[in-house]
Amino acid sequence: MFKQFDKLYGIDLGTSNTVIFEKGKGIVLNEPTVIAFNQHTGELLAAGAEAQAMIGRAPAHVDITYPLMNGVISNFEKTSSMLKYFIKKIQGRSSFLRSSQIYITVPCGITNVQKRAIEETVVHKGARKAIAVEEPLAAALGSGINLDEPIGHLVLDIGGGNCQVAVLSLGGIVASHTIPRAGMSIDRDIMDYVKKQYNLEIGERTAEEIKKQIGTAIRTSEERTIEIRGRNVIDGLPRSIRLASSEIFIVVNDFLTVLVEAIRATLELCPPELAGDVMEQGILLCGGGALLEGIDERIRAETGVPVHIADDPLGCTALGTGMMLGENRLPSRAAMLSDHLQEAANEQ
Ligand SMILES: Nc1ncnc2c1ncn2[C@@H]1O[C@H](COP(=O)(O)OP(=O)(O)OP(=O)(O)O)[C@@H](O)[C@H]1O
Ligand SMILES: [Mg+2]
Repeated sequence: MFKQFDKLYGIDLGTSNTVIFEKGKGIVLNEPTVIAFNQHTGELLAAGAEAQAMIGRAPAHVDITYPLMNGVISNFEKTSSMLKYFIKKIQGRSSFLRSSQIYITVPCGITNVQKRAIEETVVHKGARKAIAVEEPLAAALGSGINLDEPIGHLVLDIGGGNCQVAVLSLGGIVASHTIPRAGMSIDRDIMDYVKKQYNLEIGERTAEEIKKQIGTAIRTSEERTIEIRGRNVIDGLPRSIRLASSEIFIVVNDFLTVLVEAIRATLELCPPELAGDVMEQGILLCGGGALLEGIDERIRAETGVPVHIADDPLGCTALGTGMMLGENRLPSRAAMLSDHLQEAANEQ
């Protein structure tokens, strides 16, 4: 049989993390979506975990950037350099093999022009073919959902840069909502809270650590605390304080209210049969935000719909892109069905 592609890669290009799946091997790379440059010479210093470790510690001439914002590429040049760096790390050469096929994730709701721009960026880096895939479809597939069934499923992906709520059926997205707030905005809210409440400036990595260690979406009887260090804004000196989980609960509460509202709005958009299916199948929670303590319980309590956390919330999307590789089933068929169902929903 004619072998069309030598290498098949699925890339979950996220605002916080980039995960790459290689057909036949599994997940071969999982790194933060960060890149560091020397501003004087233009030299690429590092990408991924190495670049992230420099945040807050680098001299002024080192520019450290997250090249995606709210799930969308904000700097194509830097995204492209980062992908090149990662590919070199995986295969030891600085462009995709000419015979490689790539499936790469995009947030749902972006335009075809934006999709094409991403596909072209990847092809420009040397791949033979690139296909942009909506993130919730890949996440659902990677979590074991059979996309071909005429059954509605609701996927809630809480990432670093955005949250996507999508109702899927017959391989397409029937209704969706994207909110430009997620894990990274929670970190910024924590930084603002600590500054306002304690006159203490902390870095984004400390804020993220606080969220992971003591963050919670529910009022718990068991209070947990964490000691953190920062800089006192009044005298400029280092200081440490102890934060409690009940404080972080208050900080994340506003975000959770917006999230639940988005779930309601999405369910309102879809035909009643599909809403009924979602009631039965439950909500599939994925993305790193699914790991926030009690988030499943909170969403279940506020929507009345059962909630299941994906087995691997941080890896399921890359796994799903990997499962699509070489099949050529998406996205045209899904797009057609999705348009058809969207029209039907509009007519109701
Ligand atoms: N235990 C945890 N509790 C709360 N949040 C967590 C936990 N672990 C990871 N996160 C958060 O999950 C986010 C990253 O999730 P993920 O990798 O799914 O995002 P992404 O795919 O890069 O972003 P996006 O899909 O929005 O473009 C980060 O904000 C991280 O802080
Ligand atoms: Mg993501």
